[in-house]
Amino acid sequence: MTLEDRRDEEPDVYQPAEDSHLLAEAACDRLEGTEVVLEVGTGSGYVAEQIADETGARVVASDLNPHAVRQARTEGVEAVRADLVSPFRDGSFDAVAFNPPYLPTDPENEWDDWMEHALSGGEDGRAVIDPFLAHVGRVLAPDGVVYLLVSSLTGVDEVVEEAGEHGFSAVAVADEPFPFETLTVLELLR
Ligand SMILES: C[S@@+](CC[C@H](N)C(=O)[O-])C[C@H]1O[C@@H](n2cnc3c(N)ncnc32)[C@H](O)[C@@H]1O
Repeated sequence: MTLEDRRDEEPDVYQPAEDSHLLAEAACDRLEGTEVVLEVGTGSGYVAEQIADETGARVVASDLNPHAVRQARTEGVEAVRADLVSPFRDGSFDAVAFNPPYLPTDPENEWDDWMEHALSGGEDGRAVIDPFLAHVGRVLAPDGVVYLLVSSLTGVDEVVEEAGEHGFSAVAVADEPFPFETLTVLELLR
């Protein structure tokens, strides 16, 4: 099935794009395959599937969007409907990957559907990233790692600063420029 077919069939689910590919590649390059990995906001399940297939790691996934959970499960991903990391036990994951909704959105222009949840990061682009940074440390093993995709539109320095507030140091491990933004994958370690 082509991506266009998928978009027609699952109009409420974010289908893999440049950001998905960049995150999947960065995580696959760095994971050894022995880890237990959580992908937050799995959408179609593409990133989780790539990590599992390419590294052999055990991967579970979450998404707020029930249509996404259904599609990810269809692709063979062990996915649960959840807000960020809320249902998972303390210290359960060696690695967490997240391609969050990161586009700054004028509140006047927000549209109330599942694609808004996939794309909109609220007024400053960090409305989902900030709570993620506040809570992800709880579910990480002591030497666990986070791979977080951010955009220049979101403010990479602001995300790095917020991560620091929660005890993480950040290194950019992948970058890709586009005409209107640069995408970056941050590796966060404590
Ligand atoms: C940019 S899309 C990324 C989808 C997929 N991971 C990919 O890279 O193709 C962001 C995803 O995060 C999900 N999401 C948004 N807010 C969430 C939350 N609070 N908890 C879990 N998932 C959330 C959206 O439903 C959407 O599937």
